[in-house]
Amino acid sequence: MPAFIRVCLVGAGRAGKVHAETLTRYIPFARLACIVESEPTTLDAAAAEFACDVKFSSLEAALEWGEFEAVIITTPTFTHASLAVMAAQAGKHIFLEKPMALTLAECDAIIDATRYAGVHLQLGFMRRFDPEFEAAWKRIQAGEIGQPMLIKSLGHGPGLPPPWARDLKTSNGMLAEVNSHDWDCVRWLMSSNPQRVYAEIANFKGAIYGVDTPHFYDNAIVNIRFESGALGSISGVCPCEYGYDARVEIVGERGIMQIGQLQGQAIVVCTDRERGLNIPIYRTWPQRFAWAYIRELEHFIGCIQRDTPPRVGGEDGRWAVAGVLAATKSFLEERPVSLSEVLTEGTYQETVP
Ligand SMILES: NC(=O)c1ccc[n+]([C@@H]2O[C@H](COP(=O)([O-])OP(=O)(O)OC[C@H]3O[C@@H](n4cnc5c(N)ncnc54)[C@H](O)[C@@H]3O)[C@@H](O)[C@H]2O)c1
Repeated sequence: MPAFIRVCLVGAGRAGKVHAETLTRYIPFARLACIVESEPTTLDAAAAEFACDVKFSSLEAALEWGEFEAVIITTPTFTHASLAVMAAQAGKHIFLEKPMALTLAECDAIIDATRYAGVHLQLGFMRRFDPEFEAAWKRIQAGEIGQPMLIKSLGHGPGLPPPWARDLKTSNGMLAEVNSHDWDCVRWLMSSNPQRVYAEIANFKGAIYGVDTPHFYDNAIVNIRFESGALGSISGVCPCEYGYDARVEIVGERGIMQIGQLQGQAIVVCTDRERGLNIPIYRTWPQRFAWAYIRELEHFIGCIQRDTPPRVGGEDGRWAVAGVLAATKSFLEERPVSLSEVLTEGTYQETVP
């Protein structure tokens, strides 16, 4: 193993650039070895921005070159399974952005390929590396609020997502693209798998934004019953006009815990009595989770160096996908859906028009 871990970035879009910047600026024991990007202009721009001379238009070509130990996959969801399996078969460790894949069969293929190859797989659930979320998890584990009974998690994202992320066929929609983080964090914080879900969706602003993708929605709420008997909800809004918002509230037998806040900076401005107080909020996800993006990559690189399993892996990614699939089935069929239905019978992906 070299003194530093050489990393191949696959996909230089919104998330890819955040990870490339994190890797090059904040992770001293890693190097950006090459960039893979299928869109030529984006590839050239990213190579210049991150001073990376080695660039490829496909992962196949990069693997032929092969001078790296790990990949960071930040391509659209529908490409995740084939790219991750290819990287695993070539013996590369994998940091894979959420959502893990489109279907549970794809998740299984990734898990099997990484296990067979003996490479590490970490999922991009950065909330787990956010200092506030991590402290909250530790305090729940220590029993401070007693047995968790009820959780409410919200994830609201600014801006219209890229076209592929608006379509159930290529992304599983907003509940996957924006709320994957909520699916993972409710399961993590409650220490229990979801058992049954009921979802309602609405499309308020699609027409304003000129989105005519079938099944597009920009608001969703999901009620959850957990295997532990606890209850929960996930709510999503995207595009959300006011900024980026990720907050969680948990009620336990002995108390309540709130994680996160709308206020983005500890600064309050007042210039006139009529307008009241002006308090900045988080505008974007890189701003809200700046520390978490650094700490998750630090953890990934450290796991490769120490040869220890990442603390958020394939099973976690699979459960988040299962929750999304059950919730999507729920709103499509307008009924509560047990997780056992998607875990055993496949998904709506085969039947959705
Ligand atoms: N963790 C987070 O906070 C977070 C935030 C945003 C996006 N994401 C995730 O990151 C992934 C990418 O999302 P995005 O918003 O950056 O999308 P994007 O569309 O902005 O970028 C994807 C890039 O991948 C390229 N690409 C597509 N197929 C490719 C292939 N086969 N090989 C190489 N390049 C390819 C595209 O040309 C594009 O530049 C998604 O899984 C998304 O859910 C995570």
